[in-house]
Amino acid sequence: MKAADAGLLIRTFRHFAHKEFRGHSPRYERLSAAVADQPELAEPLLAAPPDQRRPILFFAAVQYLLRTVARDHPLVAYLPTLGGSRDVDSGLPAALVDLVAAHRDDLTALCATRTTQTNEARRAALLRPAFGRAAGVAGRPLALVELGTSAGLLLISDRYTCEYRHGDRVESYGPAGGLALSCEVRGERWPSPAANDVAVADRVGIDLSPVDAADPHATEWLRACVWPEHTERLARLDAALAEVAAARPRLVAGEMVAALPGVLSTVDNGAVPCVFTSNALMYLSDADRRRLALTLAECGARRDLTVVLNEASQCGAEMFTGRPAEAGPRGVLAVGLLTLVAWRGGRATVEVLARTGPHGEWLEWVQREYAYAPVR
Ligand SMILES: C[S@@+](CC[C@H](N)C(=O)[O-])C[C@H]1O[C@@H](n2cnc3c(N)ncnc32)[C@H](O)[C@@H]1O
Repeated sequence: MKAADAGLLIRTFRHFAHKEFRGHSPRYERLSAAVADQPELAEPLLAAPPDQRRPILFFAAVQYLLRTVARDHPLVAYLPTLGGSRDVDSGLPAALVDLVAAHRDDLTALCATRTTQTNEARRAALLRPAFGRAAGVAGRPLALVELGTSAGLLLISDRYTCEYRHGDRVESYGPAGGLALSCEVRGERWPSPAANDVAVADRVGIDLSPVDAADPHATEWLRACVWPEHTERLARLDAALAEVAAARPRLVAGEMVAALPGVLSTVDNGAVPCVFTSNALMYLSDADRRRLALTLAECGARRDLTVVLNEASQCGAEMFTGRPAEAGPRGVLAVGLLTLVAWRGGRATVEVLARTGPHGEWLEWVQREYAYAPVR
């Protein structure tokens, strides 16, 4: 391995150990620190495109092997999402060394061809008030179009039961008996538009690698993307996959910016497209995000359109406000901003609705208007 590649792996894995995994995943923190000490372990990750060389891809590939061809490997015993219960000890990095030695080619192939797909149904609790607000602004049924949809779990956001909590106040919206998603409301304001009815005329998701929720083999990759201590998230993933498999929204394989105009052209004029993204735009280059903003503006000039973004500020709101709306650390667990951009009669408005937790665990309703100033 070249010294520059080794240096990159050392820096990246050390950063993730200290800044992303600490406090969230003791096992990934320990494994990431071990890779920073022995970067050759993560050499398979160099097969990924440069912007995909993240520890979360490498560890998802590791978990995928443990779920498929290496089910009896000693590393399984350490990972609660695989039924393991062993605490972190010196055997954990040793088990990774052994797995990499036995499956280096498999890991390389996975890193070369996969991207992380953390499809988290609880983010629907973040989107729900934004869809309620979008429905109010649009005044017509919404056609939901998700960019970076993965298995489409968020395309059925209106079918989950979203429960919001703030101190003693607890309110639920959505159908009784749906998959329950619990979200803490922080700050002083209530996400009132969550109570609005959302009529959905159509549901379409675009993804480079859409996952068929009804295919148990395909969904293993989504399970492998769940961090090892997050067993509650794994259970929610399985429950949401079952609901999507029954609802069968339309999923389109393609690059989101390229595929969007074709998908929008299929939306009936009786509905207002609601293009939305969650934790997906960080995968785009700056140039592609600008192309996306332009595509949306061109569509908004021709027909009424709503856009909902649940993205870190620099990957979302700033595309339309032209300036930082939220300072803060970047990274996988960055605070998100829930943003609504709406075109009516060709005129655009921008509202930053809320600050959001990475996996839908909390939101802080702010609802502030911004001048529309797309980055060119
Ligand atoms: C982190 S997942 C988020 C999934 C879902 N939106 C959620 O929040 O639960 C990001 C998804 O974006 C997809 N993706 C990344 N870049 C893409 C692109 N240029 N075009 C289409 N999909 C893309 C990935 O395949 C992945 O499924």
